[in-house]
Amino acid sequence: MARRQRDISVAEFFTKNRHLLGFDNPRKALLTTIKEGVDNSLDACEEAGILPDVQVTITPCKEADRYRVTIQDNGPGILKAQIPKIFGKLLYGSKFHRLKMSRGQQGIGISAAGMYGHLTTGQPVAITSRTSPRGPAHHYRIEIDTQKNTPRVVVDETVEWEVKRGTKVEIVLEAKYQKGRQSVEEYLEQTAIANPHVQLHFATPDGEAKVYKRASDQLPEPTKEIQPHPHGVELGVLIKMLHDTKCRTLRSFLHAEFSRVSARVATQICETAQVLERSRPSRIARQEVDALFRAIGSTKIMNPPTDCLSPIGEALMLAGLKKQIDADFYAAVTRPPTVYRGNPFQIEAGIAFGGDLPADGLAKVLRFANRVPLLYQQSGCAISRSVISTGWRGYGLQQSAGALPSGPLIIMVHMASVWVPFTSESKEAIAHYPEIIKEIRLALQECGRRVSVFVRRRRKAADAERKQSYIQRYIPHIAAALREMLELSERQEKAIVRDLGTVLERSRL
Ligand SMILES: Nc1ncnc2c1ncn2[C@@H]1O[C@H](COP(=O)(O)OP(=O)(O)OP(=O)(O)O)[C@@H](O)[C@H]1O
Ligand SMILES: [Mg+2]
Repeated sequence: MARRQRDISVAEFFTKNRHLLGFDNPRKALLTTIKEGVDNSLDACEEAGILPDVQVTITPCKEADRYRVTIQDNGPGILKAQIPKIFGKLLYGSKFHRLKMSRGQQGIGISAAGMYGHLTTGQPVAITSRTSPRGPAHHYRIEIDTQKNTPRVVVDETVEWEVKRGTKVEIVLEAKYQKGRQSVEEYLEQTAIANPHVQLHFATPDGEAKVYKRASDQLPEPTKEIQPHPHGVELGVLIKMLHDTKCRTLRSFLHAEFSRVSARVATQICETAQVLERSRPSRIARQEVDALFRAIGSTKIMNPPTDCLSPIGEALMLAGLKKQIDADFYAAVTRPPTVYRGNPFQIEAGIAFGGDLPADGLAKVLRFANRVPLLYQQSGCAISRSVISTGWRGYGLQQSAGALPSGPLIIMVHMASVWVPFTSESKEAIAHYPEIIKEIRLALQECGRRVSVFVRRRRKAADAERKQSYIQRYIPHIAAALREMLELSERQEKAIVRDLGTVLERSRL
């Protein structure tokens, strides 16, 4: 047994467990690859303050079930030295170690897509990137060495490229292209709803060209990076932070490395824990860390700042919904920010009702996390749980016990956070934190109240309409009877029909 023990590289692990990253089958693999590429492009553009313009192309290859996926953006480009690691090493990225709202957070996405492509077709990932119109464009072809989780550069050259600045990623992979639910189209369409500032172009393998036009020239508010909130750190993390810090005293460590710990609160924590505030952080004994951890938990500390979040906002959410969905009524609600496990988050909900939406069947739920549509694992997501546990019948809609509401209804929910608690690395569903579920329900209830006003008004109008048409049917008979009884002329009969019609119309107003 001893001879068999050996290291397992993270790349080997995820090759065997590719379903954890969203590559369970060829259809999903295509969506995941595009999603990783587009999410990265949008993150990069927004961080650089550029209005994103992203082109997605899927071209069928000669071999069956094989496609070339190209994602090209007008973002800031990637520095030459960074390219190999970004695309050829799992768990490498700029977003994991910071607390800031962005689509990517783990540093696995695009390298995993490249790894899947290489695994299924033997082809390396091709990257072309340029950071400035004055500098050259670099072209790389990279494979991932799964045993070592390191990049293997196949091609590294400078090329002519008509694009002034941006990045193009090409991955050849085994995939299946299909329209409908959970398709690339659905992902792009929902991305357009939650990101009205984005312009997307899509060239399908059938040769169609689709454009999802920008509905707003306003970039989302740039978000600030924050430090961890003391109520969100776990004991192990605290131990590591104490070990790694450059601060000389415990008090300055608490004050400098956490958000919302003033010098006074730091002293208070040290006193509660009965640890000297001048202690050197790296020398603090294990038992003292325990006491410190408990003291942090029991000290009242202000909630973290919330300028690290950038919600879509009610106006843009409405614009996004109206752009993609034809309905009679729309509503959008943005809740104030709050906190789960020390992480700030904010919930938004929107509703589209009536119009061209199918009247029978269950409502469609659009789930978003940091503006990214979530298309899989609906039943395991905190958003679906919250929609089901909201009493929609109270708002004049139909709903069976334990089910989604039904009718011509689309419900959109967005969670914005510096760290979205996904249930797996493939980032498909949000974990069931009670604080999150509560916020989602509050947002949905507000949308419900607004839609119920509309539904009631419409029902009343329909009732009145029905009554009127009923009475209208009898008016000619009344006029004819009056003519006979009072011996009136035909002209007088017509006048009666007209007058009674007017009276009926007035009585409705
Ligand atoms: N199109 C791009 N333009 C500029 N930088 C990019 C682009 N694509 C990726 N990057 C950089 O590469 C890093 C790694 O990307 P990757 O998708 O692997 O991880 P991530 O986006 O950080 O997290 P996640 O695994 O959650 O997607 C990013 O953090 C980003 O800094
Ligand atoms: Mg990413």
